[in-house]
Amino acid sequence: MPLRPAIYPPHLLAPGVDPSAPAFQPVLDAEDLPVGEMRRISRGDLDVLLVHTDRGVVATDDRCPHMAAPLSLGSLDGCVVACPLHEGRFDLVDGDPVQMPTTGGLRPDGTYHPTWSPAGREPKTDPPGKKAEARRLTRVRRLRYYPVRVTGGRIEVALPPDARAGPATVD
Ligand code: FES
Repeated sequence: MPLRPAIYPPHLLAPGVDPSAPAFQPVLDAEDLPVGEMRRISRGDLDVLLVHTDRGVVATDDRCPHMAAPLSLGSLDGCVVACPLHEGRFDLVDGDPVQMPTTGGLRPDGTYHPTWSPAGREPKTDPPGKKAEARRLTRVRRLRYYPVRVTGGRIEVALPPDARAGPATVD
C-alpha cells in the first residue's frame, strides 16, 4: 500500500502547530514504516507516535489520552491502538476512545464510564477513597494530531517550535 497521510479531524490539531504555516521536519524514511507499524519519535521533550494505519499515516502524542502511558508500547489493529496499561483502545483516525480503560472514568464528553474487567478475569474492585475518586474524575481526552506529509521518500511531521531543534530519535 503506498504511504499517504490519513485524514484526521482538523479541530484536533496539536497545540503549538500553526495550521497556516506548518513547519514540517523530516523524521523517518517512508520504507521504514510499513503498514501496521508504529514508531516513537522523540525531539526535545516531545514524544510523537508515528503510525502507518490501514487508513494512512498519522502522528499524535506518544502519550495515552488516559494516563499518559506510551502508546508505542501497545498494539495496533487497523487504525485502533491498544494502550499497554489499562486496556484503553483509541481510534487513531478520529481521535476517540473505542474502549474505555478498565479503571473507568470520564469519556471525552464528560459522561462517566464505570470500572470493568476483561472477560475471564476477576471483577475489578474499586474501594472508595481518594484514588478511586481520582480515577472516577480522570477524563480520557481525544488524541491530538501533528500534520504529516511524504516528500522524496521521507516522512515529515509538522512540529511545534519547541520540538524543532536537534535530531529526532526513533524507537
Ligand atoms: S494509561 Fe492508557 S488506558 Fe490507562
